[in-house]
Amino acid sequence: MRLIRIQEYNEQTMQLAKPVYDGKRRILLAAGNTIHPKYLERLIDIGITNLIVEDAVSKGVTMEELLDMPTWLDVIDCVKSAYEAVRTGKPINLRDLLQKAGKLIDEASRRPIIVPVPSAMVADELKDYAHAVNVAIMSLQTGKQLGYNQLQLRDLVVGVLLHDIGKAKDKSKEAHPETGFQIIRAIREISLLSAHIAYQHHETLDGKGFPRQLAGKEIHEYAQVCAVADLYDHLIADEGTAPHEAMEVIMGQNGIKYSESVVSAFVKSIPAYPPGTKVRQLDGKEAIVTRIIDHLQRPCIRLLATGEELFLTDHPSVLITAG
Ligand SMILES: [Fe+2]
Ligand SMILES: [Fe+2]
Repeated sequence: MRLIRIQEYNEQTMQLAKPVYDGKRRILLAAGNTIHPKYLERLIDIGITNLIVEDAVSKGVTMEELLDMPTWLDVIDCVKSAYEAVRTGKPINLRDLLQKAGKLIDEASRRPIIVPVPSAMVADELKDYAHAVNVAIMSLQTGKQLGYNQLQLRDLVVGVLLHDIGKAKDKSKEAHPETGFQIIRAIREISLLSAHIAYQHHETLDGKGFPRQLAGKEIHEYAQVCAVADLYDHLIADEGTAPHEAMEVIMGQNGIKYSESVVSAFVKSIPAYPPGTKVRQLDGKEAIVTRIIDHLQRPCIRLLATGEELFLTDHPSVLITAG
């Protein structure tokens, strides 16, 4: 299976490999089906722009690195309820939030890598929550790489799941970090460090961020972890940047906006070419990423023309780019 843009869908050659849900989490289309061209329009109307399909090109690619959809949607639901609670002046369901945070930490500890489900696969009304969940998943992987213990990971993931919660109360971009900080800080059971993630996630090392123009060591490392994952997700989900290009943007800010230790942990945790990505060798030969063995940025690829599989770690001179 592989991830495609909805425009690439071809009824003749592709079947849906993962179900498509609407904003209420009802299954619109089950896996195994083909999609009628008329129906594609409807999906685009509600904001679904990517699909995971099975076709000849991607045969045998399992994408098992992807977080499973039910878990992903459960955490999205939980973040959505937290936003709704804040909007209506009710308390956040903390038990649920901590339980979902624990579930993500378990997944991250158990598996060598988790690739977040692209938020382009859900309807528009869920995108903000999917963003929070995906940033949390990437932050967790980075935190794991930085050697955080369970307690640190928990404070990190809770803070990141709620990093934009200020937007539930106040839509303005400038105000949401502080509004979020005030909301989280009022919850006694949540660490103040988690609240600071919301407060500081738009601050940058060079002191040009907001809201307080903090610089260098004034910014907590958790907030930097969140900031890097936040930018990466923003580039992919909102700007349509390809993952490997988003990775280059992040690397370009190494030591400028983001600390070197955080950027290097991020690069070691997030695959720029997830399995199921179509790529191209510099000589033009098309291939598909089949799996990741050890080196995240040097995956295993299969040439489309010959079916030959190449472990890029064994072929340091073979360079790839997005297909
Ligand atoms: Fe934000
Ligand atoms: Fe964000």
